[in-house]
Formats: sequence, C-alpha cells, structure tokens
Amino acid sequence: MEFFDNHKKLFGATFLLFAALTILVAILPALHNQRNNAPLPNAEPLSDDAVKGKAIFIANGCVACHTQQVRNVDMDKIWGSRPSIASDYAGIHRTDIWRNTATLMGTERTGPDLTNIGSRQPSLDWNLVHLYNPRIVVKESIMPAYPWLFTIKAEPEKDDVVVSVPDEFLKGKAGKVVATPRALQLVAYLQSLKQTPLPDGRPAPEFLYKKAEKKTVAADGTVQGLDGAALYAVNCQSCHQPNGEGLKGAFPSLKGSKIVLDDDPEIMVNIIMNGYNGRAQEGFPPMPAVGTDNKLSAEEIAAIMNHEKTSWGNNAKQVTPEQVQQIVDAVKQKAE
Ligand code: HEC
Ligand code: HEC
Repeated sequence: MEFFDNHKKLFGATFLLFAALTILVAILPALHNQRNNAPLPNAEPLSDDAVKGKAIFIANGCVACHTQQVRNVDMDKIWGSRPSIASDYAGIHRTDIWRNTATLMGTERTGPDLTNIGSRQPSLDWNLVHLYNPRIVVKESIMPAYPWLFTIKAEPEKDDVVVSVPDEFLKGKAGKVVATPRALQLVAYLQSLKQTPLPDGRPAPEFLYKKAEKKTVAADGTVQGLDGAALYAVNCQSCHQPNGEGLKGAFPSLKGSKIVLDDDPEIMVNIIMNGYNGRAQEGFPPMPAVGTDNKLSAEEIAAIMNHEKTSWGNNAKQVTPEQVQQIVDAVKQKAE
C-alpha cells in the first residue's frame, strides 16, 4: 500500500490524530471546566502574607504529607463540614508565568488534611511551636521540624514574636526563639485555609456511606457512647497535652485548675465556646473558641468536661448536657 510507504502521509495522519485527541480529551474539557466553575460568592481571596506563605508551603514540601481535599466519604467528615467541590479550587490561578496552578490537593495523607485547618487550629502560638518542632506539642509526631523558619536571639526586640520552646528542645542554644517573617507568612497561609460555606445559607450535603451513630442519654443525664477521652484527644490535647499539664509558658495546666474543678460549670463552658484570654499577664496566648470552631454539641462538651473533671487526679462534680445547653443558649442570647 502506497500510504504505508509514504512517510509524509504517515506522519501527517498521526499528527492530525494526536491533535484531534488533544483537543477532545484535554482542551475542550478544560475550557468547559473554566466556563462552568467559579469561586463561591463568599470565598475570600488570600491576603498578601498568605500568598507568600503558600510559596513557603510549596518550597518546604508540605504537600508531600498533607492533602487539601475533603472526599465525599463519611470518614473524611472530620476534615470539613462538607465534601470539597470544584468551586473550592476555581479561584486558584497560575503561580507565575513559569509555574503551573498549585491547587495543593495532594495525594498522600501522612498528616491530617489541611482544607479547614484555619478553623480547626487557628492559634498562631500553637502553629509556631509546632513548626519549630512538632514533638513539643505532639510527642509522637513524625512531622519534620522546620527550625530554619526561626532565629535565636539573646535579646528579642519589642516587635519580635517569641515562641515558647521548652529548654530540652533548644539543644543547649542560649537565647529566645523568634519567628522569622517567613514563619509568620506560612502560619498566615495555614490560618487562611477555611472551608467557604455554601451561598444563601444552603445546608451542606450529607457525606456518603454514613455510619450509624451510637449515642444514648442515660436516666441520670450522663451521655453513654460518647468517649470524653477521645473527644479531648481530638479537640484539646494538642495544647493541653495528654497528661493535662499543658506546656510551660504556652498552654496552662488543666490538672488542678480552679476553673476545671469549679462546681459551677459556667466559666468553663464559656471558655470552650468563646475562647479565653484571662491569663495574658502570665504569658499565656489567647485560647481560640474551640467549641464554636469545631461545632461541638452540648453532649460532646459535657463528655469532654467530665473527662477533664475526673482525670489526672482531678475529682470534681460532673455536668449534664442539659446544664451545658442552658449556658450555651444564655451566652448566645447575650451575644445577640
Ligand atoms: C513527613 C510528613 C510531613 C510533612 C513533610 C509535613 N507534615 Fe505536617 N503533619 C504531619 C503529621 C504526621 C502530622 C500529625 C502529627 C502532628 O500534629 O504533628 C502533621 C500535623 C500538621 C498540622 C496540624 C494538623 C492538625 O489537624 O492538627 C499542621 C498545621 C501541619 N502539619 C502543617 C505542616 C506544614 C506547614 C508543613 C510544611 C512546612 C508540614 N506540615 C509538613 C506530617 C508532615
Ligand atoms: C490552640 C490551643 C488550645 C486548645 C486547642 C485548647 N486550649 Fe484551652 N487554653 C489554651 C490557652 C492558651 C489557655 C490560657 C488562655 C489565657 O488565659 O490567656 C487555655 C485555657 C483553658 C482553660 C482555663 C484554665 C485555667 O485554669 O485558667 C480551660 C478550662 C481550657 N482551656 C479548656 C479547654 C478545653 C476543654 C479544650 C478543648 C475543647 C481546650 N481548652 C482547647 C489553649 C488551648
């Protein structure tokens, strides 16, 4: 056949086939995607600091262990209030002319998903300590330390952000650990990572493959099936530590805390729902509104409080979900 002997015809035909397939499977779907997906109307663009922080996130290879995608399966519910959708990534453009769009969705989840880390862990102080050396706050952490984002200064200046690093992690270095602008920009990026709510107050769709929840309230009002220790581990332990003793100079002890041992639960519920900054003179940073940020229910808060009231040698009167609900409602009314 003449066709197979003519290299011009052969090359021309394969080239046309290649071009047609490229248009069909790559270019047309991309145009279709671009036309049909826009950022959600209430999505907030990154601040200048957060944009620089994102570049530092990329440069340090954080995406190797951290995803930014909440899959539509029930086990991903802990990473966000709804599954991720295309609109969540539609506002991300080319990094610059030389570098492609960095959606940072990731493929490996060695560490937790970071889609909503800005709500889950908004504390600047926690993030800085954790980046300096994750083992300070999470003893068994396998995340690498990033000490090059910090400098050691003998005499920090007034505007310096000093990080409370325990002596054993200073490895004999004298002075105070000070966050560099790069560390602050990286944390600004982490703090900006929040799931945008759907517009018009539309409720988030349910996750697929839901597991049945086991939870019953006994006659005496205590909640059965909710594990206070597990809830404490997820919501409070990163700062107050597994032994409840906190971290010197950074997070106060709950063991023997007057507020935890108080028979009147009001102050404690208030702290959990609205955060707390009552001990700034002692050098403690503010506590974020963990209960509100993590959307904890009255039952969950009661289970956590009872765990704290009865662990590490604490022995205080327990609370019921109704008591907690009453205080939460009263606090909300005051705020309105
Ligand atoms: C080798 C894998 C690995 C790399 C690389 C890594 N991390 Fe992690 N990260 C982890 C693991 C594991 C955890 C859970 C334990 C912990 O909190 O330290 C974690 C936890 C976190 C958390 C807390 C998440 C939560 O839900 O509490 C943040 C924030 C975080 N990493 C940010 C970063 C940033 C920023 C970088 C890059 C500078 C980075 N990580 C690089 C493995 C990694
Ligand atoms: C991001 C770190 C962080 C997390 C997470 C956190 N806390 Fe705190 N907590 C703090 C800090 C910091 C303070 C001290 C705030 C201040 O007074 O300046 C504090 C103070 C408290 C106090 C007052 C203790 C006292 O004696 O003064 C209680 C009670 C408390 N937290 C309970 C909780 C509970 C319950 C949770 C989980 C639902 C939790 N915290 C999660 C950082 C945290």
